[in-house]
Amino acid sequence: PSARIDLDLEAPGADVSPRLFGTFVEHMGRCVTDGIHEPGHPAADEQGFRTDVLDLVRELGATVVRYPGGNFVSGYRWEDGVGPRAERPVRLDAAWHSTETNAVGLHEFADWAQRAGLEVMEAVNLGTRGPTEAADLLEYANHPGGTTLSDRRRAHGREEPFGIRLWCLGNEMDGPWQIGHKTADEYGRIAAETARLMRFIDPDIELVAAGSSNHEMPTYGAWERTVLRHTATLVDHISVHAYYEQSGDDVASFLASAAHLDRYLDETATIIDEVRAELGIERAIGISVDEWNVWNQTRWNEVDKPRVFTGDWPVAPRLIEDEYTATDAVVVGSLLISLLRHADRVSMANLAQLVNVIAPIRTEPGGAAWRQSTFFPFRDTAGAARGRLVPLRVSAPSTPTTRYGEVPVIDAAATTDGDTLALFLVHRGLAAPCEVRVPLPSDDWGGSDVEARVLAASGDGGWTAVNAAGNEAVHPIPLTVRRDGDDLVLLLPPISWARV
Ligand code: AHR
Repeated sequence: PSARIDLDLEAPGADVSPRLFGTFVEHMGRCVTDGIHEPGHPAADEQGFRTDVLDLVRELGATVVRYPGGNFVSGYRWEDGVGPRAERPVRLDAAWHSTETNAVGLHEFADWAQRAGLEVMEAVNLGTRGPTEAADLLEYANHPGGTTLSDRRRAHGREEPFGIRLWCLGNEMDGPWQIGHKTADEYGRIAAETARLMRFIDPDIELVAAGSSNHEMPTYGAWERTVLRHTATLVDHISVHAYYEQSGDDVASFLASAAHLDRYLDETATIIDEVRAELGIERAIGISVDEWNVWNQTRWNEVDKPRVFTGDWPVAPRLIEDEYTATDAVVVGSLLISLLRHADRVSMANLAQLVNVIAPIRTEPGGAAWRQSTFFPFRDTAGAARGRLVPLRVSAPSTPTTRYGEVPVIDAAATTDGDTLALFLVHRGLAAPCEVRVPLPSDDWGGSDVEARVLAASGDGGWTAVNAAGNEAVHPIPLTVRRDGDDLVLLLPPISWARV
């Protein structure tokens, strides 16, 4: 097959916010403990953080980091994680049936995030707690001093406020699995009251209301409407969580996951606009896709969950340590294309999670840290997408999928900062390569040497290969781009993601 991508370089496009390339660190499994933090590891610094992991996090190029959960936050007492380590309580973490040592808390994490170049996006507990504790945490973190809470922060070694700007009002409160699960009205009320109080304390913060846990929730839509009716004048964003997996041997539908995310984002944007119109609100409310990824939840439900929830209470158990194939990486790349395409409505997005737990980075205790296949499309998109979105039209043959009907085999997004152009493409066809032609107004764009890379399931890694310690076989390789006059011409292998 062959395809053509027509770019409209003169048309206006939404700014691409660096916040589209956020990530997520939860106190879950081995993300914090034995992930970013492992005192005693040969690469650990004086605080116990692994410098080899820190180097990979920097290389990944993420911008924002959501913390400390996730389901964990709905039972978390933030005070447990501050003050002298020896005095911190050890607690049961009911969300993940684990033991939480509290060796890492706000101070350590904020220092680490700063060194990693990540802006902290802090979630408050609206499961077992409410406005008072959220306001206390905000005062502790952001108030300069002269109050008991802010002076406690200073006594704990942090003279200057943390200045955390982004705050999530709870997590997945629509889910019956959530500690403190609520109806939309119950959540809407507590989210609004928490937001009001937090804004009184620090008017500069941005607040994220918790939207649906996934598009298939029976309450999706109604949840957003109700929650926004309570909170629309008080919040800046509403969240969307979206995880994708292959069902059986249906690779074609899995590869078309971005079609589902497109629909989910479009519908959520419509609901936001309907409520804004209903309430006469002019201010924009962004979509914070603050958990998204490929996650084999069938495995979680059938293997991990029964083992975890019938066992004892381990510290840092191996939870949802998905190992990613090239196909998974292609889907991650395609989901990034969907996020870019919605840059006008998506104000933030967080790849969930960062280390070990459904993560682009894996580690072994005492051993190596390495990049999973999904690391590469994220790193290369975050590194190259800048400026504004370039409107484009893809003309390509379609391919059938069981879940989403016919979808074009090629999907793409492009950005430009005025001088350079970045193009992100996926080929969702299963069998044959596809020649893609991209007419450009002149060869000024990219010059004669256009640098491109491709990651393909049919490449070195094959269909099932995954990376492991000391073996990153699944990675992008150089892709030849031919110039035909002013056109760029490239040959994409089946099941591939490319960055030009
Ligand atoms: O990222 C793993 C879990 O997925 C998070 O804790 C939760 O918010 C979601 O269900």
